Amino acid sequence: MPKEVTKSFDSSFARELIAWQLAQGRHDLPWQHDRTAYRVWLSEIMLQQTQVSTVIERYQAFLRRFPTIFELANAHVDDVLAEWSGLGYYTRARNLHLCAQRVVHEYQGVFPDAVDELEKLPGIGRSTAAAIVVFAYGKKAAILDGNVKRVLARIWGIEDDLTKTSHLKSVWSLAESLLPDDENGVVPYTQGLMDFGATACTPATPICITEAAICPFMRRCKAFKQGRVLDLPLKARSIKVEHLNMDWLVVFERNRFVLEKRINRGIWEGLWCFPETLPFKWVEEERYSPIKHVLTHRRMSIRPIRVKPKTTSLKLSDDFRWVSTEEALALGLPKPVKDFLQQLSRVRDVA
Ligand code: ADE
Repeated sequence: MPKEVTKSFDSSFARELIAWQLAQGRHDLPWQHDRTAYRVWLSEIMLQQTQVSTVIERYQAFLRRFPTIFELANAHVDDVLAEWSGLGYYTRARNLHLCAQRVVHEYQGVFPDAVDELEKLPGIGRSTAAAIVVFAYGKKAAILDGNVKRVLARIWGIEDDLTKTSHLKSVWSLAESLLPDDENGVVPYTQGLMDFGATACTPATPICITEAAICPFMRRCKAFKQGRVLDLPLKARSIKVEHLNMDWLVVFERNRFVLEKRINRGIWEGLWCFPETLPFKWVEEERYSPIKHVLTHRRMSIRPIRVKPKTTSLKLSDDFRWVSTEEALALGLPKPVKDFLQQLSRVRDVA
């Protein structure tokens, strides 16, 4: 960590960031109003791996279905997965449900207001815990998500590999030292950090490069002064990507499909998908265009194949279900299954 960081620099950073947030930040996001801990927590979990524009739509629908933490805790996990359908990273939905149950049973439905307590709950890491403490309770706590790491690494010229725990620890200390002195400033400051990272100090097209002059930190941003903005933060050591091939067997008769609930299958646990194997003999009828589905650690190649059963009496266990497209869309579906079903029904509509 650069030694020349001074307290006066730190407090002016908070002041300037708050000024930037008031003038240029986002003020109308649905979770910025009526900031109960439940609403804040839900938004932060949704925003962990999903873009703001997608979350805006899905957040309201989720709250209509589960208006309070009690409805969420009492729901069946399948209904939570169904409402999460298409948002991806389904561990978030399972943890959301488990977390709601823990908060109801251990805290009478009231989220704790301390980072270390919140961090013990499923799906809540240190940065998410801090965001809840700030936005729901107006108390001071430092966030450090991917966007904030980028902002700090650039302004402070941090060249360390932030996948190393010891280096990350120093950045957490820096993030804590930067908090505004006055507790009243902590909400606009934290929202400012998020917004500045998401809209101004972006990975590939930061405003200092595309629109010069309007970044409030340009004069003292180490990375900008050294022409190294796009080099920082240093890229994580390349993550090993797993390649996965999957065949989907599409059995379609009288406007109904066979879907199978995935149990103990590694990915998409508990979600409904086209079967990869069938408990009866079949013949191939048609191959649809292959689907590519790319996730952080996984690249999937999916081959959907329309098949025709060779027998007329189809005996299926409880893990299988005949469903119409409409019924399927009300189940918990992985995003590519949902997209494929919608594509098929559009084709049928025009046929
Ligand atoms: N990303 C993570 N949390 C956010 C928030 N509260 N507002 C906007 N973007 C975010």
